[in-house]
Amino acid sequence: MEILHVSAECYPVAKVGGLGDVVGALPRYQQQLGHIAKVVMPAYRNKFYDTHEFDVVHQAGMWLGHQWYHFNVLKERQNSLDFDLYLVDIPGLLDTPGVYGYPNDTERFLAFQVAVLDWINEWNHQVDVIHCHDHHTALIPFLLSWGYKYNRLKDIPSVLTIHNAQYQGQFGWDKLYLIPGFDLWKAGLLDWGGCINPLAAGIKCAWRVTTVSPGYMEELYVEANGLESLISSERTKTSGIINGIDTMVWDPATDPRLGINYTPEMVSEGKTANKAQLCERFGLDASVPLISFIGRLVGDKGADLLPEIIARSLHELPGEVNFLVLGSGDPHIEWMLKETRNYNSYGFNLHIGYDESLSHQIYAGSDFLLMPSRVEPCGLNQLYALRYGTIPVVRSTGGLKDTVTDFGDPGGVGIRFIQPSVWDVCYSVKRALELYQDKRHLRDVQLTGMHLDHSWTASAAQYVQLYSSMR
Ligand code: ADP
Ligand code: GLC
Repeated sequence: MEILHVSAECYPVAKVGGLGDVVGALPRYQQQLGHIAKVVMPAYRNKFYDTHEFDVVHQAGMWLGHQWYHFNVLKERQNSLDFDLYLVDIPGLLDTPGVYGYPNDTERFLAFQVAVLDWINEWNHQVDVIHCHDHHTALIPFLLSWGYKYNRLKDIPSVLTIHNAQYQGQFGWDKLYLIPGFDLWKAGLLDWGGCINPLAAGIKCAWRVTTVSPGYMEELYVEANGLESLISSERTKTSGIINGIDTMVWDPATDPRLGINYTPEMVSEGKTANKAQLCERFGLDASVPLISFIGRLVGDKGADLLPEIIARSLHELPGEVNFLVLGSGDPHIEWMLKETRNYNSYGFNLHIGYDESLSHQIYAGSDFLLMPSRVEPCGLNQLYALRYGTIPVVRSTGGLKDTVTDFGDPGGVGIRFIQPSVWDVCYSVKRALELYQDKRHLRDVQLTGMHLDHSWTASAAQYVQLYSSMR
């Protein structure tokens, strides 16, 4: 079977969060199952683009409303990701250093989708499945079915994976003219709440809709940022498939970004050595437990709770715990965290920004990883933490609930709490410190977590089964 993944991110080409990790790994595992998987994404002007070679495989142009854009489809020459990687280069729209956050994101991702469809429309062979990821690619199922130009592609099955229903890509009907000609009787399929809503259109038109954990799928029927009734009415074509992790990239025994590599057998020594380096870099005391947070500094991740959690814990437990934060996002949260550090310089430090290497070093060198998420469709951080012998402290929601059991239960690998509140998290911090003192129990919990199999193998097979069910 030949699968084409369409995405805004793919690690290591461009990554903002977990979407990049998923699209960088899933195709490789699908190839290992004997299928052909390809990825097409925008040609951002970043390090990957500058340091790799490409062949131009398609040259064309398109109207986006009244504006004409030339575009090229580039294929990476070395096959360095182990699968075919295509980049859509649209000068004037996608040739940006970053992925999101530009005032013309609507036009950028619309143009990307149109270019992808125009290109595969001209291809001399057909893929078996088009797998779209998130709202940036969610108009494709609609255009495949109803776009006049794409009649030839009508019967290609499409899958939409919702990585996060909080983001839907809505824009006003005044921009309808940007969408290539389609059967106007079907315009209602684009609408949700009086706007053009790409995620809603994808949910209506894709042959199958998945999300990234069974737990989040259940939550979406009742809470999906306004789309719950739509998702419920499309229930028969929905399913939750848990994300895996790329065990080749995320392996403490071989990870080149770590100061010291370690296997489960030497977890205590390995983590102690990595923690010593990390604490030295951040001026923290390596002899007390280290609780870290890595991620986007936004309300959905519960990042706004961090300043109070940290200040209160350091006040109530002076000299008994350290905190480290890596992330960027909401400027107010960034500012609050900086202020918190200024007042608590002994037990807390932070790095504002995106740093892939540092994230690996934090997974390895921390004792606990905190995830007080309000919304977490899957979450990959807790899976990386488990693999690196770091105990996840998570709010029981979405994919966190599906992947982290509490150490108070038999075989438990983490610490769970129910409410995304300062009080609940501070109580969990105390539980973490108690576990930390009980070295034998701590090691048992670490080893159980390290031995769990969260690789993509099982989930990649589930996707293949889903594709087969559509043929
Ligand atoms: P989300 O996609 O919602 O941000 P996930 O848990 O699925 O959350 O994935 C987050 C990914 O992004 C992980 O690989 C994590 O290590 C990485 N990450 C998040 N913030 C940073 C950062 N500031 N620096 C480096 N890596 C980060
Ligand atoms: C989204 C979600 C996150 C998930 C990731 C990959 O960004 O917020 O929970 O792990 O996508 O699917």
